[in-house]
Amino acid sequence: MINRINSFGEYWSAYNESVQNPEQFWANQAESFFWRKKWDSVLEWNFEEPSVKWYGGSLHNITENCLDRHLFTRGNQTAIIWEPNDPTQAAQHITYKELHERVCKAANILKNNGVKKGDRVCIYMPMVPELAVSVLACARIGAIHSVVFAGFSASSLADRLNDAEATVVLTSDGAYRGNKSIDIKGIVDEALAKSPTVKRSIVLRYANTPVTFTEGRDIWWHEEEAKASAICEAEPMEAEDMLFILYTSGSTGKPKGVVHTTAGYMVYAGYTFANVFQYNDGDVYWCTADVGWITGHSYLVYGPLLNGATTVMFEGIPTYPDASRFWKVIEKHKVNIFYTAPTAIRSLQGFGLEYVEGHDLSSLRVLGSVGEPINEEAWHWYHDHIGKGHCPITDTWWQTETGGIMIAPLAGVTPTKPSFATLPLPGIQPVLVDEKGEELVGNGVEGNLCIKFPWPSMIRTTYGDHERCRLNYFSTYAGMYFTGDGCRRDEDGYYRILGRVDDVINVSGHRMGTAEVENAINEHLAVVESAVVGYPHDIKGQGIYAFVICDTHVPMESSLLKSEIIATVSKIIGPIAKPDKIQIVKGLPKTRSGKIMRRILRKVAEGDISNLGDTSTLLDPTVVEDIVAGAKLV
Ligand code: WTA
Repeated sequence: MINRINSFGEYWSAYNESVQNPEQFWANQAESFFWRKKWDSVLEWNFEEPSVKWYGGSLHNITENCLDRHLFTRGNQTAIIWEPNDPTQAAQHITYKELHERVCKAANILKNNGVKKGDRVCIYMPMVPELAVSVLACARIGAIHSVVFAGFSASSLADRLNDAEATVVLTSDGAYRGNKSIDIKGIVDEALAKSPTVKRSIVLRYANTPVTFTEGRDIWWHEEEAKASAICEAEPMEAEDMLFILYTSGSTGKPKGVVHTTAGYMVYAGYTFANVFQYNDGDVYWCTADVGWITGHSYLVYGPLLNGATTVMFEGIPTYPDASRFWKVIEKHKVNIFYTAPTAIRSLQGFGLEYVEGHDLSSLRVLGSVGEPINEEAWHWYHDHIGKGHCPITDTWWQTETGGIMIAPLAGVTPTKPSFATLPLPGIQPVLVDEKGEELVGNGVEGNLCIKFPWPSMIRTTYGDHERCRLNYFSTYAGMYFTGDGCRRDEDGYYRILGRVDDVINVSGHRMGTAEVENAINEHLAVVESAVVGYPHDIKGQGIYAFVICDTHVPMESSLLKSEIIATVSKIIGPIAKPDKIQIVKGLPKTRSGKIMRRILRKVAEGDISNLGDTSTLLDPTVVEDIVAGAKLV
């Protein structure tokens, strides 16, 4: 059993120990996992290169910890409850024994198709059990998984396949989302036309939609499965072997492949799951995130399975067939711990209480929030109407790069305050710094959030480009990991995340680089230049506002042009990056050195034009007047 903190006093003693003697603390936590060989050294690190190594000299396999070691104690317990998109279709209950067998078979499918330790396997699948099975099958044989959210476009998928030089793709024929059917295989085919490293595409027959097969490249999962043995020895992995790559947006145009390695990630995902959610043996736990995001990796698949939990995997969306679906699923599967995003809460809140009423939510004990700041109104609605006033809310702050939850209340243990992520978890040493990089000591301060000491599941590199990792995270403030978030530490020492301080916007909990969206908009033939900023959006948290300069030689009606721009972004990145507002402008506010003054655009997008600040350094200050006048019409 993974060690669990049970009181606020225990939290403080664990925290103090973790800071005073981090190696001893993390060695103790690692003792509750299964190792083929234990470590020689707990931690070696420097943040200059950066180089971070946890549990050096050890051997293990994360799937033995997620599956094999539960077989004797809980082989017949449900590991995954799969709830399909269509509520009339039966849910699946997959026991640990069955999951183990399915993972071993899938691992053998990969092996039979030439996949070896260290090879990159891309997974582009809907939220079906085989998605989790695929992730674990890769880990079983030491292949590095790169899950790409199945809402990304063919061109985003191709970029990720090429960057990782993936050799195999695991996918499905089609997918369902709400009342839409999605041609997954078609998207993969289009991507593979531009991804020469991929030799095999293994296709799950799931939606029974028509597909075309490319001879020699595409094969059916079920045909391979029929030939695969159910026995597959786990590959003994060294601590710093790569477990997975997950692409995420940054302030530069191209998404980066965040690399996580296996031992430290395992210990941290397991430890934080048990503690943050205060998981009790037998609890049914539901995280609504897609496995295509880090939340799905750490807290739908790995964290719960490491703890022998029952984890719910939901294929659908919160509003299908109607806005009561989440509450129906909680009632149906008697969910005890529920983890979702503020955007979902705000959206469901908007539908009214009639969708909540009449559902038995009495099984709920703990509520979680992730992905973006949760505003007080949504916090109270969640607390009062879903938790009925008695379920603690854990507002968890973390990132793809951190691998696991960093700042969060331990549910029911740490006293909460709405919209505060509260206190750092044991092992996490946050610091706030000012613009010059000076540490802001004491309470009642606000600055940029950094972490000054390594933790086991931190980013090790960006795939194929270590320098990018150093520049992005370790060079802004010497000797510290910089998160990109602004943060306030209040008089009680509680942390409140204020949002990104870089050119990243957070739309419905999804990270989006402004440069990435601009690059996509600029692909439209009529677009000369564009600038994208975020603005407050009632449901999404932030919306995307695009200022676009068009070629006046292209005679096009502006509403048609706008819908074409939206379609272009959807095609290049995916529907999640579609601008909410587009303003066609004659010029952008630029300094004499040609830099766009986003500060001004942000103010306009927010509708706050009373104080645009100093515009005298602009090349052409009249541009701003035009933009302000035009904004009223958007
Ligand atoms: C934001 C998601 C406030 C933050 C796990 C961070 C949050 C980015 C919270 C990472 C929270 C995440 N409160 N902001 N509880 N959780 N964020 O990589 O800006 O998709 O830097 O990881 O989301 O997003 P990512």
